[in-house]
Amino acid sequence: MRRWLLLALWPLAVSAQEVRPSREFLSPALRAQQEDPSRHPGWLWVDEGEAIWRRGERSCQSCHGDISAMRGVATRYPAVASDGALLNLEGRIERCRVENQGAAPFGYESEALLSLTAAVARQSRGMAMSVPVDGAAAAFLEEGHAFYETRQGQLNLSCGQCHDANAGRRLRGDVISHGLGTGYPAYRLEWNGMGSLHRRLRACSLGVRATQFPLGSREYLTLELYLAHRARGMPVEAPGLRR
Ligand code: HEC
Ligand code: HEC
Repeated sequence: MRRWLLLALWPLAVSAQEVRPSREFLSPALRAQQEDPSRHPGWLWVDEGEAIWRRGERSCQSCHGDISAMRGVATRYPAVASDGALLNLEGRIERCRVENQGAAPFGYESEALLSLTAAVARQSRGMAMSVPVDGAAAAFLEEGHAFYETRQGQLNLSCGQCHDANAGRRLRGDVISHGLGTGYPAYRLEWNGMGSLHRRLRACSLGVRATQFPLGSREYLTLELYLAHRARGMPVEAPGLRR
C-alpha cells in the first residue's frame, strides 16, 4: 500500500496553484446533487437541527430568535471566545448548550450536535469565509499552519504535499482538493451519514499512518482555523456532499 501511494505521488509535478473551492473538485453529478436539497441526504440533518433549535422551554430560539439570525456566523469560525479559548462552531454551540441552556453537552459527533451545526452553518451557505486571524487568534493560526506544513506518519507526508502539490490529481478514487473545511459537517457516502470536519481530518491522519487526534482537540482546532483562513473568500458549502 505504501509503495502504491508513493508511486502514485512521485511523478507529479509541484505546481503553485491558487486555492479553489472544494466543490470544483467534485464530480459533476455529486456537485449537482450537493446543490439540490431534494437529492441531498444532508438536508435531513438540517431539518432535524432546525427542529432542535426550536425545541424546549429554554430553546436556542428563545434567546436567538429565528435561526436565520445565524446568517454569516459560520464564516467567522473558529473564533477566540472571551475567555481565550479557540472555539469552532461545534464548540460554540456546546458552550451555549451548557452555559445558557443549562443542559448536558450533546457530545462531539452526536447526531444532535451535527444537526445543529449543519443547520447553523447552512445559514451561511454561499457566503464568503472571513475568519479573523489578528489579536488572540494569531498564535492559534500559526500553530495550525505549522501543523499543516509538518511531515507526518509512516508515509512522512504533510497536508500540503497532498492538498497543494497534488491538488487535482487522483488518489484511491478521489480527486484531491485543496483540503478546505468549508463543506462540513458533510454527508459522506462512505460514512453513510453526516460527519464533522474533525472526523474527516482523522481520516487524513490515518491515511498517512499518523497520530489521529481526538475530535475537538487543540491540534485539529488550530488546523481548522488555518484551513478556514486558507479558505478566505471561498463560499461556505455546508452541508457538503462527499464520496
Ligand atoms: C439563555 C440564552 C441563550 C440560549 C438558550 C442559547 N444561546 Fe447561543 N448565545 C447566547 C449569547 C448571549 C451569545 C453571545 C455570547 C458571546 O458572544 O460571548 C450566544 C452565542 C451563540 C453563537 C455564536 C454567535 C456568533 O455570532 O458568534 C451561536 C452559534 C449560538 N449561540 C448558538 C446557540 C444554539 C445552537 C443554542 C441552542 C442549543 C443556543 N445558542 C442557546 C445566548 C443563548
Ligand atoms: C496522502 C494524501 C493526503 C494527505 C497527506 C492529507 N490528505 Fe486530506 N484528503 C486526501 C484525500 C484523497 C481527500 C478526499 C478528496 C478531497 O476532498 O480532497 C482528502 C480530504 C480532505 C479534506 C476534506 C475536503 C472536502 O471538501 O471534503 C480536508 C479538509 C483535508 N483533507 C485536510 C487535510 C489536512 C489538514 C491534512 C494534514 C493533516 C491532510 N488533509 C492530509 C488526501 C490527503
